Amino acid sequence: MLYRKFPAPAVLAVIIAMSCGLAAPAQAGTATPQGRERILLDQDWRFHKDDAPVTDLPRSMLLPWLLPTGNPFLADAARRAPPPPGAPAAELPFASPDYDDSTWRTLDLPHDWGVEGEFSASGSGARGRLPFYGVGWYRKVLDIPATDAGRSIFLDVDGAMSYAAVWVNGELAGGWPYGYTSWRVDLTPHLKPGSRNVIAIRLDNPEDASRWYPGGGIYRHVWLVRTAPLHVGQWGTYVTTPAVSRDSATVMMRVTVDNDSLQDAGVTVISSIVPLDAKGRHAGRAVATTAPALLQVPHGASATLEQQALVAHPRLWGPPPHQHPNRYALVTTVLRDGAEVDRYETPFGIRTLRFDADQGFSINGQPLDFQGVCMHHDLGALGAALNERALRRQLDELVEMGVNAIRTSHNPPAPELLQMADEMGLLVMDEAFDVWRAQKRPLDYHLLFDDWHEQDLRALLRRDRNHPSVVMWSIGNEVGEQNGGEAGAALARSLAAIVHEEDPTRPVTSAMNSARATGAFAGAVDAIGLNYQGTGVYGGPPQYPVFHEHFPQALVYGSETASTLSSRGEYTFPVPPGFGIAVSAGSGEDVARRQVSSYDLNFAPWSYSPDREFQTQDTYPYVGGEFVWTGWDYLGEPTPFDASRSSYFGIIDLAGFRKDRFYLYQARWRPDLKMAHILPHWNWPERVGLKDADGAPVPTPVMVYTSGDEGELFLNGKSLGRRKRGAGEYRLRWDDVIYQPGTLRVVTYRNGHRWATDEVKTTGPAARVHLSTDQRHIRADGRDLVFITAAIQDAHHLTVPRAQDSLQFSVEGPGRIVATDNGDPTSFEPFRATTRRAFNGLALVIVQATHGATGTLRITASADGLRSDTIKIRLRR
Ligand code: GAL
Repeated sequence: MLYRKFPAPAVLAVIIAMSCGLAAPAQAGTATPQGRERILLDQDWRFHKDDAPVTDLPRSMLLPWLLPTGNPFLADAARRAPPPPGAPAAELPFASPDYDDSTWRTLDLPHDWGVEGEFSASGSGARGRLPFYGVGWYRKVLDIPATDAGRSIFLDVDGAMSYAAVWVNGELAGGWPYGYTSWRVDLTPHLKPGSRNVIAIRLDNPEDASRWYPGGGIYRHVWLVRTAPLHVGQWGTYVTTPAVSRDSATVMMRVTVDNDSLQDAGVTVISSIVPLDAKGRHAGRAVATTAPALLQVPHGASATLEQQALVAHPRLWGPPPHQHPNRYALVTTVLRDGAEVDRYETPFGIRTLRFDADQGFSINGQPLDFQGVCMHHDLGALGAALNERALRRQLDELVEMGVNAIRTSHNPPAPELLQMADEMGLLVMDEAFDVWRAQKRPLDYHLLFDDWHEQDLRALLRRDRNHPSVVMWSIGNEVGEQNGGEAGAALARSLAAIVHEEDPTRPVTSAMNSARATGAFAGAVDAIGLNYQGTGVYGGPPQYPVFHEHFPQALVYGSETASTLSSRGEYTFPVPPGFGIAVSAGSGEDVARRQVSSYDLNFAPWSYSPDREFQTQDTYPYVGGEFVWTGWDYLGEPTPFDASRSSYFGIIDLAGFRKDRFYLYQARWRPDLKMAHILPHWNWPERVGLKDADGAPVPTPVMVYTSGDEGELFLNGKSLGRRKRGAGEYRLRWDDVIYQPGTLRVVTYRNGHRWATDEVKTTGPAARVHLSTDQRHIRADGRDLVFITAAIQDAHHLTVPRAQDSLQFSVEGPGRIVATDNGDPTSFEPFRATTRRAFNGLALVIVQATHGATGTLRITASADGLRSDTIKIRLRR
């Protein structure tokens, strides 16, 4: 299937202009008088966690007042909801503009109230044991000068968890229930320009509405958008590139203009295409500009036009290392009577996507397997609260491993994730839902599905469809309807139809763990995503070939794979043979300590090891790659130990430290990187001279992950043999090593030539703390973070792999400790604590500089009986 089709245009005007290098438009963000301004509204909110004195405001009672906010996303005008009469609760003191909130806490968004709390042993392990639920209020005085009279003013919320309701000057203005959707409330009718305006947002986050930690609060950015009454609508541009060659690209632009004034109006729309540099800044003049197009916009309504341009010798967007993520911006200028009333900028990329049942996925003609990972939205110790630096750190580590694709499991991501993916050249499978009508948890999305799925889905599509990184739309993860016969399939088809209406250029997919190839459901999607069953689960045969045969037109790929479990630096014995075994008390689990072995051969009962997926993918080369569960550990879902706080599935732990598996994937996904990695660590005093019941020595197996194909292992200089990887083998293993302290060294080879080496040494006792960081500077903008690793080392600077010393962190200078962690899924030390036990030699401290400050931060880590360490971080403006 080729996804390059452009929909039949519902257009009022089509103007074709060739690339002619007309005048370059002004830089993004230039505010024309009375034109568009988009202001970050994160700072200085008042916050109160509780609903007192109101205690009885059920979510169902508020919902009718939220529905009108979703009206622009309902195709059928008859379904659009008028605002109900009256007010949902007459006396809501916190919503009143006169309420005295001076005793409330002052904070900046994004904010997650859950992650600030303590872990509760009696809380839900699945949802991370943190107090994310309940009601919370945010209030803010808005600065709306008298000169804003006559302008349109909107509140844009990137994400609030959940059931958000917004009051403006005491009037309920709208809101949105699904916590992952980005939404807009029109403040205009409720504001009084020139006088005091107060906005109050109430969230009501159910306890049992998610299978993982959702976070609680306004956890993404909030914006105030001011425009002229005639302006480009919310997400009012749509750019596609229906024909792309080396010589030229056809760029189709659809622009929707809203008219919030009381008169019908004629406007002129001009579209320019400007190349962007790697940082998203304009890089030179426009490469194409359309002729002016006239558009009539009735008052109180919207109108859409379509324009087309040719870009000569387009610089394509594609993933590194073989392609480059080149981007352009569509600059839309709206004029009335010759004067500019709005200018709106839409970054986009020019590329072709192909999803072929036999050849797999390709971009710009280059075939590419998804080397993907699934990612939840939380940022570990920072919870769900979006932070760009923390998110970028996650993505950078994944790219270092060889990742080229992210699945936003199982919900719309932060807009910043897509911006970063665009910049970095990462591919994204953008996912809407974990649940449709069939519930997974008592209070989850099934309660909203009927009334809200169209709005949520169209909002996702309209927000994200210009991002070149997005290559597929997932309408759902393991939804109950996949086994629901014709009714389930009909529902899937109706969701797919919505997606196709909003964006016919990309395939619809769904992640299916139990749908059968012969059932109706799978036929509703364009690309077949298989969770686990592709490779075969519970001893069953691989389903990739079965689906491939049934759907000869569709790409088949692993939408979720592996679910291998491990705790960083933990190893249990005996080590399973072959491709491993489901985790259990008898294999992989250290039940007493709630840890899972890192030999990477134990997995959830419904899954299998990474090696087995590799082998299946190699056996069926038409399979389009995989999305591993998961890239990073996440809060909640601590299978197999529900008593813990965070997952064991990650390839990287919650603190950002690599588990051994990182190198298993790196070896496969970056075959040209010379690398070798030995496991386990080599501190096993209890295994010296260890014998079994028959008196035979008990081995301590050694594995090597390498992009080489052969390796020779040495223990204290003595060769333990040279091993070659056979077909269908993805690791080198020496199962018969008898432990003795000293040095393990591997020399690897590729095609007989020396390739890479690695070494692991038995360490001495802990003697010192060592601090390191990837960044010696921090911007004093109140947002930037520095991530500092504390390692417990011996006298020879070797990290002591089983050290659990308790560390005390402190900061001197204008900054603060935001959070600490150690990646241990069992740790209940609060993330806000400045003391943190090292987990297997490592701990993390996250530091932020005071906004506007200058100077230097000195961060110190100390531990009883060990030499402490201090690291200096310089502040930048
Ligand atoms: C999948 C599910 C994921 C996660 C995973 C754990 O079935 O889609 O959300 O729960 O299992 O293995």
